[in-house]
Amino acid sequence: MADAPGRPSILISRALPREAVELARRRAQVDIHTGDTPLARPELIARLRARQGLICLITDAIDDELLASCPDLRVVANVAVGFNNVDVTAATRRGVVVTHTPDVLTDTTADFTWALLMATARRVVEADRYVRDGKFQQWEYMLLLGGDVHGKTLGIVGFGRIGRAMARRALGFGMRVLYQDAMAADAASERELSATRVDLPTLLRESDFVTIHTPLLPETRHLIDAGALRAMKKTSYLINASRGPVVDEAALVQALQEGWIAGAGLDVFEEEPVVHPGLLGLTNVVLAPHIASASHDTRLKMATLAVDNCLAVLEGRTPPTPVNPEVLSAPRR
Ligand SMILES: NC(=O)c1ccc[n+]([C@@H]2O[C@H](COP(=O)([O-])OP(=O)(O)OC[C@H]3O[C@@H](n4cnc5c(N)ncnc54)[C@H](O)[C@@H]3O)[C@@H](O)[C@H]2O)c1
Repeated sequence: MADAPGRPSILISRALPREAVELARRRAQVDIHTGDTPLARPELIARLRARQGLICLITDAIDDELLASCPDLRVVANVAVGFNNVDVTAATRRGVVVTHTPDVLTDTTADFTWALLMATARRVVEADRYVRDGKFQQWEYMLLLGGDVHGKTLGIVGFGRIGRAMARRALGFGMRVLYQDAMAADAASERELSATRVDLPTLLRESDFVTIHTPLLPETRHLIDAGALRAMKKTSYLINASRGPVVDEAALVQALQEGWIAGAGLDVFEEEPVVHPGLLGLTNVVLAPHIASASHDTRLKMATLAVDNCLAVLEGRTPPTPVNPEVLSAPRR
């Protein structure tokens, strides 16, 4: 494919909202993969090889080997806030800027996480199935009793943008908010959100809802393991809309089967898109296919921000949301 002179050449690894793709096409030579499944690795490398920019999704593994195969690449613009699919250390070493899409998805993700929390506690999915199955023959006093949300204790693990957005929602439900984070929030945020920092054992012991909002890092992999699940109240619920491997899924299956906790709401899974078969047969877990940020508005904003990030780097400007800004000030390779 011949590139127009002076225009950077980029690959978009998967279909994105039309407006965002058009924005990219106005200023760059664009190759876009619109297939139903992610590009197989050899094809991803082949189509990326002579290009300077990549706009990719969390289903694309961007590792050192791929970066080594694409020496012209200057920017990897991930369309997500999480970037555990990108080897940032390798990219930084090779002078490749990595960008992500924080902030624009915070409230949409928290809205969905809250929906998952409510659906899990109040058994919304079971109730829907009950009606569809024709079982609603008479009103029953003891039917589908769930857990209250208002006035309970919410434990937030990872008190960053999305974790704090969850705390803001909890205020409206009159909840007590505990949080655990590698870093303490400033006093003003703690006051505004009525949130108290505690250690993980205290959070697990005292919370009625534990919601996970850490990035996936070596130190957060299986942060919620069998020991953590056993430390939670039998009446409590676990909600995970961060990354699947933060929770030991096999241990969670056992916890749900044996009643260590009351239920769980999961938007993410350890081996996506594979779901642990033990989860599929359980009624005390609500499952979603990684859609927490999936509103029309937010998916457009994420894609547009990724395009802006990519073009900024290729046009010599500072991208709005870099992950490794140190590359921008380093001498070019
Ligand atoms: N399900 C979805 O569709 C979806 C959507 C958006 C984000 N996410 C996930 O949510 C994560 C959080 O997003 P964010 O914008 O709030 O990020 P953020 O960086 O603002 O917040 C993450 C917080 O986790 C804390 N943290 C890091 N390591 C920790 C540890 N070991 N223990 C406790 N806390 C730790 C950080 O200090 C930070 O406060 C993303 O990394 C992403 O993986 C998922």
